[in-house]
Amino acid sequence: MPLIRLDKLISDSGMYTRNESHVLVKSGRVSIAGCIAISPTEKVDPDIHEVKIDHKQLVYRKFVYIMMNKPQGFVSATEDRHEQTVIALLDEKYQKLGLFPAGRLDKDTEGFLLLTNDGDFAHRITSPNKHINKQYFAQIDGDVTDADIDLFSKGLKLADGTFCRPSVLERTDGGVYLTLSEGKYHQVKRMLAAIGKPVKYLKRISIGGLMLDDALKPGQYKEINACLDCIFSKK
Ligand code: URA
Repeated sequence: MPLIRLDKLISDSGMYTRNESHVLVKSGRVSIAGCIAISPTEKVDPDIHEVKIDHKQLVYRKFVYIMMNKPQGFVSATEDRHEQTVIALLDEKYQKLGLFPAGRLDKDTEGFLLLTNDGDFAHRITSPNKHINKQYFAQIDGDVTDADIDLFSKGLKLADGTFCRPSVLERTDGGVYLTLSEGKYHQVKRMLAAIGKPVKYLKRISIGGLMLDDALKPGQYKEINACLDCIFSKK
């Protein structure tokens, strides 16, 4: 692993800010491979050098992955001049980690939004070529027919000529589930509008094989570093 500054390594752990890491080093509470660190700008290789704070080993996390239940009213962006972004929902310690949404949900859509600072991973789950399934629950005007289900299963051409790949439409209590293997602009709303069943409420409930945790209320989130492989197991 390339060398990184000691203060960055400490703050990337998510436990301390960059300023706090300076104070820790200056007060002699940090050691690198058994020697007291002198300066926060010292360079370390986390694969080789054991860094300890108050004699406790620091676990270096290169990347962070967060499952958020996005509430309505927030945009899936890191910055916006007019709207509140999902980043504003994160605690201060996460705000410093350079997290960004891997994929987008509309401002009025709720549900599973994945935030990370791992660009390669974000690409893997959003790339149209990877076909990671995403499942949505929608409340709609009208009732879905067998003909609608059949149409979606074959792929649907929208009025503007956009072709939507085959998808799975299912009836459920109070609405429908729609599973897509791609992520075109406003895709769920456009597909359901195309069959005359406009969406009234939309929530993403899974990405790949990973379901949104029911325990997360809108606006809440949790780290999912341990269950990333589930995303790539087919749903
Ligand atoms: N499709 C939509 O129409 N909106 C979303 O937010 C996500 C998928």
